[in-house]
Amino acid sequence: TVQPTREDRFSFGLWTVGWQGRDPFGDASRGAIDPVETVHRLSDLGAYGVTYHDDDLVPFGADEAERDRIVQGFKKALDETGLVVPMATTNTFTHPVFKEGAFTTNDRSVRRYALRKIMRNIDLAAELGAKTYVFWGGREGSESDFGKDIGAALERYREGIDLLAQYVIDKGYGMRFAIEPKPNEPRGDILLPTVGHALAWISTLEHADMVGVNPETGHEQMAGLNYTHGIAQALWQGKLFHIDLNGQSGVKYDQDFVFGHGNVLNAFSTVDLIENGLPGSGQKYDGPRHFDYKPLRTEDLDGVWASAEANMRTYLLLKERALAFRADPEVQEALAVAGVADLAQPTLSEGESYDDLLADRSAFEDFDPEAAAQRGFGMVRLNQLAVEHLLGAR
Ligand code: GCO
Ligand code: MN
Ligand code: MN
Ligand code: MN
Repeated sequence: TVQPTREDRFSFGLWTVGWQGRDPFGDASRGAIDPVETVHRLSDLGAYGVTYHDDDLVPFGADEAERDRIVQGFKKALDETGLVVPMATTNTFTHPVFKEGAFTTNDRSVRRYALRKIMRNIDLAAELGAKTYVFWGGREGSESDFGKDIGAALERYREGIDLLAQYVIDKGYGMRFAIEPKPNEPRGDILLPTVGHALAWISTLEHADMVGVNPETGHEQMAGLNYTHGIAQALWQGKLFHIDLNGQSGVKYDQDFVFGHGNVLNAFSTVDLIENGLPGSGQKYDGPRHFDYKPLRTEDLDGVWASAEANMRTYLLLKERALAFRADPEVQEALAVAGVADLAQPTLSEGESYDDLLADRSAFEDFDPEAAAQRGFGMVRLNQLAVEHLLGAR
């Protein structure tokens, strides 16, 4: 069961295994990997998809002939392996032209250039069959609270996404957009820092229906938040269009570890939610299981491919554990004691009004809060059962 297959729908960004280990304090610790090789290696490991930023595939500034040659080679590798491109995105953060932002830089000419760069890659993404287009606004933000009109920035972000949505609709690309939140890094503070901020902002868009979120495990955890709760809310709102799975331990720099190599108990509840859905409604995420991680800078090329495999193995092991957890009669009993299923029952009865509630003496006048306060929910036992399943002790 820990042998990944196409049916598991695992996907990886070219930039993940392709990360050369450059960080703010050190140079690259590995050489570049040709995207064609990545496609073959991922396919051999059992992945089903590969994703990319425009510049991961075609180096920034390449001429048309070079671009064409690279794209044809990439397509050939996809044909040979059967790997698909479920998602694509734009690099609007590496080149210094974007140092003050892309959608939201104070420099209007750069905003116009960014839109053109994105539209160009959206055309290619459509050609490659991508159904989701991700926007990670790494440079949309500031280090000075006085250097950015946040209202105007959110307005320009909205203008840009509305324009691109209209473009995709007019072209008939059948693509959806997913906004990827992150609280900081590389900017001191990034706009749309959490899933909640993004969802609220999306509701202001002209084509809000085609825009959802792409939450990354570590990004929510960098903000001290619960990733499983974040994706659960997005799922409940019909906005979980894509996910970036990885590992992070606590509130610190963006670690982009292998999935599970961080808060493993939260990784367990994440897989439980993805595989089993929301307990009450059964709503489920049905998109790719996408890994957005960075192989540690300490690894050589063999270590890179071993780390890609590690993401999938961890996911499958957690999936196996999540299914066993839900099937365990003792867990089911503990869930009942905790009243988990009871929460799916509406608080008022069918057709009951607030007048009826006001007339219900058992709800207030005759209700004994002291007695109700005596109830134990058994959450520790439930959590311990989860830990024991996670540890393979049950
Ligand atoms: C990060 C981000 C990026 C984006 C990717 C998509 O780790 O800060 O996850 O890797 O996901 O660039 O645009
Ligand atoms: Mn990250
Ligand atoms: Mn990501
Ligand atoms: Mn990343």
